[in-house]
Amino acid sequence: MGAEPLEIHLEEQDLGRSLREDVRTGLTAEEKWLPPKWFYDARGSQLFEEITRLPEYYPTRAERAVLAERAGDIAAVTGAKTLIELGSGSSEKTRLLLDAFTRHGDLGTFVPLDVSVSALRQSTAEIAADYPGLRVRGIVGDFTRHLDRLPAGGRRLVVFLGGTIGNLLPAERAEFLAQMRAALEPGDWLLVGTDLVKDPAVIVPAYDDAAGVTAEFNRNVLRVINRELGADFDPEGFCHVACWDAEREWIEMRLRALRPMRVRVLDLDVTFAAGEELRTEVSAKFRPEGIAAELAGAGFTAHDFWTDPGSLFGVTLARAD
Ligand code: AVJ
Repeated sequence: MGAEPLEIHLEEQDLGRSLREDVRTGLTAEEKWLPPKWFYDARGSQLFEEITRLPEYYPTRAERAVLAERAGDIAAVTGAKTLIELGSGSSEKTRLLLDAFTRHGDLGTFVPLDVSVSALRQSTAEIAADYPGLRVRGIVGDFTRHLDRLPAGGRRLVVFLGGTIGNLLPAERAEFLAQMRAALEPGDWLLVGTDLVKDPAVIVPAYDDAAGVTAEFNRNVLRVINRELGADFDPEGFCHVACWDAEREWIEMRLRALRPMRVRVLDLDVTFAAGEELRTEVSAKFRPEGIAAELAGAGFTAHDFWTDPGSLFGVTLARAD
């Protein structure tokens, strides 16, 4: 059946506009910040793939272990006809699900949604080639804005893997889950991957690896802004910081100015004091009871919760009420 042409719900102009808005909001705030979605240009996506193979970065391996173990159950329980993947990237782990559905179910359509046209082009072509009976409909979109564009009908399973839901702040997460629920019908399914609260001595190195790949990934957001908006950040003028917020149970990545700097971006003159920090990512860690409660608050019932043997990472299968 093969891959259909990508459905574009997010044009270059939209991306440019939302980047400009985010840069203006974040860099004029009292405590400067930028949203993590701007890490992922071609180089950023490649650096992230590299991160997933680092010895310190356990989430990808732990989640893959859960999916390898449970994909058959997920296919049998949901009996999904349409599999929708949010923030699909390379869809590498999703193949475990596609393989299971190929064995059991009657999955007909795979719908990956991602902001990256290049990542989607590649993944839709590869998946269509490897799963000949499957209809592949890639959607270029932002999972915080385009959930109302998901295909309707059939028994749907939405998967949101990698722990990416942890990049949303608590209020954004509640909003996201409510929108997700509104896009689904009772009986549809949601599979969500969440990194779990654990000893910070395990978490922090995952975000501050010895080889410095995460530091390069972090600085990449400045390169993206330089290129897209003609800014003059000196990425080497910032060092990478990862710190655990014990109260909020999340890790923050920041870029710390090594010296006073002045940056021209848009019509702004942004100054950094020596040592000033720019927050570039929040990656929340979860407790099983917290996940179930957040899902329930949005109109989902947790049906299964699985972890890897080390209890590092959780995967929840929930049903829309
Ligand atoms: C892709 C959002 C799940 O938060 O662990 C990896 C991104 N940031 N190293 C995460 C990330 C730093 C990753 N997610």
